[in-house]
Amino acid sequence: MKTNGKKLVVFFSHTGENYNVGNIEKGNTHIIADMIAEATGANSFEIVPEKEYPNDYNTCIEIAKKELQSNARPAVKGDIKVEDYDVIFIGYPNWWGNPPMCVYSFIEKHDWNGKTVIPFITHEGSGMGGTDRKIASACKGAETLTGKGLAIQGKVAQENQTSAQKSVDSWLERLGFKK
Ligand SMILES: Cc1cc2nc3c(=O)[nH]c(=O)nc-3n(C[C@H](O)[C@H](O)[C@H](O)COP(=O)(O)O)c2cc1C
Repeated sequence: MKTNGKKLVVFFSHTGENYNVGNIEKGNTHIIADMIAEATGANSFEIVPEKEYPNDYNTCIEIAKKELQSNARPAVKGDIKVEDYDVIFIGYPNWWGNPPMCVYSFIEKHDWNGKTVIPFITHEGSGMGGTDRKIASACKGAETLTGKGLAIQGKVAQENQTSAQKSVDSWLERLGFKK
């Protein structure tokens, strides 16, 4: 696994009304993504669907469910050249044991050969939920660190950042990233 070389944090995160945390201005995964980028000196890219998910929780759930059932690939705004990086952290919320479908839209636009991919997730009880294996099959040709990704409860990311920061720091240290 590479811990040196160029690093990138790519993430999707939903703001607005979210499960167990009320109405939030910065998504739970976004908070963790920023901590990883800060600690590793990585660049950062936010996956934003062209048609953004609504703030309202129940409407968001309905749209997310339809996208999952139809295996949709919603268009995403902008892009970043993953091909220029060596180590790519990919972060997202757990949506019924899957990453939001827009994460696949982003992944499938790129060539992952030779990259090291490190998944991280926020959730409200389901943990990584096997999503790391789904990321591994989507990022063809990459070495994906399945079983070694970071799972943090969204409420902890949102409301107890000292604890979240400790989890991020010790995880990065275990993986061999030096401050
Ligand atoms: C559509 C949807 C589905 C979700 N499904 C799950 C789930 O199956 N398991 C779980 O633990 N949390 C689930 N959650 C909660 C989110 O994973 C959790 O709130 C996460 O921290 C949100 O991160 P974000 O603010 O970066 O979007 C779901 C949330 C949404 C909106």
